[in-house]
Amino acid sequence: MPQPYVIDELISAKAIAARIEALAREIRSSFADTDKLIVVGLLRGSFVFIADLVRELDMNVEVDFLEASSYGDAMESSREVRILKDLRGEISGRDVLVVEDIVDTGFTLDHVVRLLKTRKPRRLETIALLDKPSRRETDVKATWTGFEIPDEFVVGYGIDYAQRNRNLPYIGCVRFTDADAPV
Ligand code: PRP
Repeated sequence: MPQPYVIDELISAKAIAARIEALAREIRSSFADTDKLIVVGLLRGSFVFIADLVRELDMNVEVDFLEASSYGDAMESSREVRILKDLRGEISGRDVLVVEDIVDTGFTLDHVVRLLKTRKPRRLETIALLDKPSRRETDVKATWTGFEIPDEFVVGYGIDYAQRNRNLPYIGCVRFTDADAPV
């Protein structure tokens, strides 16, 4: 069971929407020569972000999903990334944008990028809504980042704490209210 906690707003829904609009403009212009962009959401955390991002991308896109997990219900990365669901489509020779909700240690994105590169896409770029550079344990860096954040435990906009709070429309910081709980 999760420890008792409250949530403080860190990034508002309005700020997220404005940032996504700007990121979508950059992506459109970067992929201006692409006839179709394959946008790959990493489940489960990216499901809200990818939904908003593709609706701002005024270009031909195909949406696919890959499920990777390294945390389960735990707060610490297991450092072992498991692919629980693979892509439906082929990406060989295609232009691909991998969409991640948050890059923390970087193990998940690093693993997925390595895996997808073995399938020989024409071009593979990555976008993460949130980046916690202070927690990085790999060399991976997303091509585009929405917000750099401090080492806070965040939830909302797709991100969970023990599978809760993915449906918050904003990004919030978890504050444990039990004095014995980790902060
Ligand atoms: C979370 C999050 C990222 C990853 C980031 O996924 O959605 O994919 O961890 O952490 P990392 O940079 O340390 O690898 P999780 O494994 O919790 O699965 P979920 O997306 O289904 O919540």
